[in-house]
Amino acid sequence: MTWFFGICTFWLLMVMVVAQKNFNVLSTQKSFNVVPGQNFNQGTGLKTNCLGSYMRLTIDKSLAFGNQVEFDAVNGSQIEPLSPSLAAKCGFYIDSDPWGNYKVFASLLNCFAGNEDDAVFDVDMRVRVRGVKAEQEVFEVEKTCNYDQWAPREVLCTQNYIEVSVNRLPEEITALRSPLKLPRAKNFGEQWADTVTEAITSRYNIWRMVFFTPKQKAMVLEDALRTGYSITTTRSRLVLRSGYDMPETYEETVNGVPMKVIRVTTYFKKEWSVTMLDTVAACPTGGLSFTDEMITWNFPRINPLMSSRATNLLELFMGIDGKKMDSLQMETRGYYLTIVDDLIVMKIPIGGPDGYYKSHVVNNQYRITYNIEPMLELLWSDGGMDTTRYKVLFPIKTPFMPSPPHFVDLTVVDQRMFDVFLGPFFYDIELVNITFSTGVLTVAEANARGINIQEQRFQNGSKAFRLQVPFSDSFVERTQVDVVVRVYTLRFSYGFMVLPEYTPFSYTSSVDVTLQDVILPTVTGDCDEEKFHIMISLGNLGKNFNIMIGTHDMTPDRRAEYGVKENDTHMSLAMPFLASDVVFELMYASSLRARIDVLLWEPTKKWTLSDFSLACNFPMTMTECFSNGTMSALAVKVESVPQLIPRQLTLRDPSCGPKFSNDRFAYFSFEANSCGTTRTFYDGVVTYQNEITLGNGLPVYQPSKKGVPTSRPDPEYRITMSCFYTLNDTQTIAFFTKPRENEPLPETGFGQLRVVLRLAWDGSYNHFYAEEDYPVVKYLRSPLFFEVVLLTSTDPQIELVLENCWATLKEDRNSTPRWDLIVDGCVNLADGYETVFHPVAPNSIQFPSHVKHFEIKMFTFVQNDVVLQDQIFVHCDAVLCDESDGICKRHCPSPMPLKTGKKVRRETTNVQSQRVQLSSRKIMLSSS
Ligand SMILES: *[C@@H]1O[C@H](CO)[C@@H](O)[C@H](O)[C@H]1NC(C)=O
Ligand SMILES: *[C@@H]1O[C@H](CO)[C@@H](O)[C@H](O)[C@H]1NC(C)=O
Ligand SMILES: *[C@@H]1O[C@H](CO)[C@@H](O)[C@H](O)[C@H]1NC(C)=O
Ligand SMILES: *[C@@H]1O[C@H](CO)[C@@H](O)[C@H](O)[C@H]1NC(C)=O
Ligand SMILES: *[C@@H]1O[C@H](CO)[C@@H](O)[C@H](O)[C@H]1NC(C)=O
Ligand SMILES: *[C@@H]1O[C@H](CO)[C@@H](O)[C@H](O)[C@H]1NC(C)=O
Repeated sequence: MTWFFGICTFWLLMVMVVAQKNFNVLSTQKSFNVVPGQNFNQGTGLKTNCLGSYMRLTIDKSLAFGNQVEFDAVNGSQIEPLSPSLAAKCGFYIDSDPWGNYKVFASLLNCFAGNEDDAVFDVDMRVRVRGVKAEQEVFEVEKTCNYDQWAPREVLCTQNYIEVSVNRLPEEITALRSPLKLPRAKNFGEQWADTVTEAITSRYNIWRMVFFTPKQKAMVLEDALRTGYSITTTRSRLVLRSGYDMPETYEETVNGVPMKVIRVTTYFKKEWSVTMLDTVAACPTGGLSFTDEMITWNFPRINPLMSSRATNLLELFMGIDGKKMDSLQMETRGYYLTIVDDLIVMKIPIGGPDGYYKSHVVNNQYRITYNIEPMLELLWSDGGMDTTRYKVLFPIKTPFMPSPPHFVDLTVVDQRMFDVFLGPFFYDIELVNITFSTGVLTVAEANARGINIQEQRFQNGSKAFRLQVPFSDSFVERTQVDVVVRVYTLRFSYGFMVLPEYTPFSYTSSVDVTLQDVILPTVTGDCDEEKFHIMISLGNLGKNFNIMIGTHDMTPDRRAEYGVKENDTHMSLAMPFLASDVVFELMYASSLRARIDVLLWEPTKKWTLSDFSLACNFPMTMTECFSNGTMSALAVKVESVPQLIPRQLTLRDPSCGPKFSNDRFAYFSFEANSCGTTRTFYDGVVTYQNEITLGNGLPVYQPSKKGVPTSRPDPEYRITMSCFYTLNDTQTIAFFTKPRENEPLPETGFGQLRVVLRLAWDGSYNHFYAEEDYPVVKYLRSPLFFEVVLLTSTDPQIELVLENCWATLKEDRNSTPRWDLIVDGCVNLADGYETVFHPVAPNSIQFPSHVKHFEIKMFTFVQNDVVLQDQIFVHCDAVLCDESDGICKRHCPSPMPLKTGKKVRRETTNVQSQRVQLSSRKIMLSSS
């Protein structure tokens, strides 16, 4: 049997290979062997499986992640790095996911495998893992796979190559279709078969190959190899391998499924005979359709490999990652494989555990794909023994699917913290940083700063991100939308990376909360005698407001002037009541009612935050009445007469203007007998009165409160001021104030008028006895010259009138005995030594009416002709009256004897109580 021949030959080969298989550690730090037959070496994360006609090597990402992984094919001592083209040519299909899980499918018929009688295959490989430090680790993989269930034709489709192997032994050859009629020996049989066998046992007998593209294209073996095809023979098989993009392949759409086809006829030549072998392979390159949940893969049931005769599908399997599944496994996974009309239909639900999701970024949009590598395995017969085993390893990647993460605002306002959730994302997303309105923070920086960013992982491996930012954080924008309403806004942009490619993308959003949480600033205040004291409690808006005092905004100058002090919560200021921002409401006799208006307002929206007014009475001398007759008055511009120009104010006499004025004050000082001052006597009180008005009589208009002038004339500005003078018991005249109701009337200051009774040396009234001269000593019946004088008035119209004068023995003016000298303004006619009034010469003194001179003769009181005591005291009651007033006019009777004398009474009833009481000191009778 030719079988044995092949096996024997192969044994030799194997011995040689084994002999060479003496592993040397190749310029590496570490070297591991994956012991043949042992599927999994825990320490290395390498795993091998024999899966029918190929071996699968998987490498876990724990071994390879972040590193560069390269593979070498090993053929005894020969080590070949597997470049993509060499892999495709020699039967290696290497696939990896983004995280560094690798899968290598090595055809058992690969260029480097040890082949023992087409039944035992040694696949040796090396895995080189090159870390960042450029130190590479080398893992050596040796795997022996047994597989002898070769169908006469086997087709393997991977992503990078198409492999077809056909049995080239005579029995099978005869069964193969042959488009070319060979010249055959008449006695077709064993002899011929031997020859043919011999002819095609060696690759070197390949005479030529004809590719059908579908146009015929002939090549000699060397050309075919050079073009990149792999053409090998084993003991029983001819193996042809081609990449998908080889020039001699062509596309064909079969039942709507695009397929890549390679079709070759190989001619073996041995001496006189030529044997030909047809090899054809067709691999699908499409047939996929997707819904949101399902991948559908169609494969043509009748394909170019089948003869036109009805084929008999013997087996139909589905697998994942090159491994067949049974129907139970398929059912649990929801996989579905069936034949519908001319199509074999495979359905794979998206999201199952055999595949994986991958994140992507498309135009900064988060997209995902689902990736899975199903396998389809068919076995069919085209009648008779001509069976074909057909396997497709078909990696599928869904189109980009939107997977917008959910953004959930979990903010609970009471906790005063934004709380937002974003997810889910797949595990290959990393949150790198967060951009807030004022800056970028890495996740670590943000957490260190009191912002809480948590990554939440779900059981299924998805993750989500939760962000908590207190309302108080400076990243939160606060916008006041109403006087008491603020909107808190958090704007943020997550900076993500898709691993392992480090593709950045961002997710931008914002949340806001509207709160009625504004604590407005408040103003309080009080006054002392000189200043307003204002305190501003800031509330929670900080100092973002303007202060308007009166009608002016606070300027730095005013701040200094008002002594503004502030800390984080309060502001205070003290304002003198005469400060320019203070308005005057009312004038009183001795005080001024002044008001300060404080307005706190928001400058951008012009909101009033606080409106405060405080009015206080400040003591202030408005009118002064001097005892020398000078009156002074201060007129103040009050709020109710805004148009007033103080300098235009006058007294009753329009020619009497202010002595001094500015924009708010007018100061008047004038003599009581000038400027139209009136004088009234009433109840012994002298009242001087004048008025301050807008003397020219022009009407004054007051604008309405809103500032729009109205035509309503303002009540005339009129200040009436009065000085009241009264005589007091102790020889002075004082004024007192007599406020009238509802009149903004400053009335009086303070002053004194003095009336004195004094004794002159002689009738010239030039010299008077001084205090220290008393008691004055006089001879009996010597004259005593008395003067009563109003000292401190300059009013010529006041007249001093002596009402009663009398003498007493004792100092007490009410004591007895008593002797009347002047009664009701007239000399006592009953007196034997008559009292004499001396007129006061108009030229001798400035105000004659202020002075009265009278003369008496010194006497003593005698009782029963006994001199009681040698002393007397003289007393007078004086009144002041208006010269023009009738009350001062009197007519005294002519002197007449006591007995006939009739007393004439003056009308002085009301004066009595108001009189000035004057008394002299002791006057003694000279005894010598
Ligand atoms: C593998 O080794 C064998 C024997 O040494 C040799 O004939 C064959 O050409 C080698 N294959 C490759 C692909 O180098
Ligand atoms: C993973 O779990 C989360 C939370 O239960 C869910 O929102 C998400 O859709 C799941 N992801 C997948 C791919 O099932
Ligand atoms: C923030 O992260 C994004 C996404 O990873 C990145 O593109 C960006 O450069 C980062 N920004 C800063 C300031 O680091
Ligand atoms: C700020 O000033 C106010 C009023 O003067 C005072 O009551 C308060 O305690 C001060 N606050 C601080 C933090 O100093
Ligand atoms: C009256 O006295 C006041 C205050 O002493 C003084 O200012 C004023 O000039 C005096 N008037 C006269 C006329 O002397
Ligand atoms: C009268 O004048 C004297 C001296 O100035 C003063 O002390 C006294 O209080 C006055 N009396 C009255 C009732 O005004």
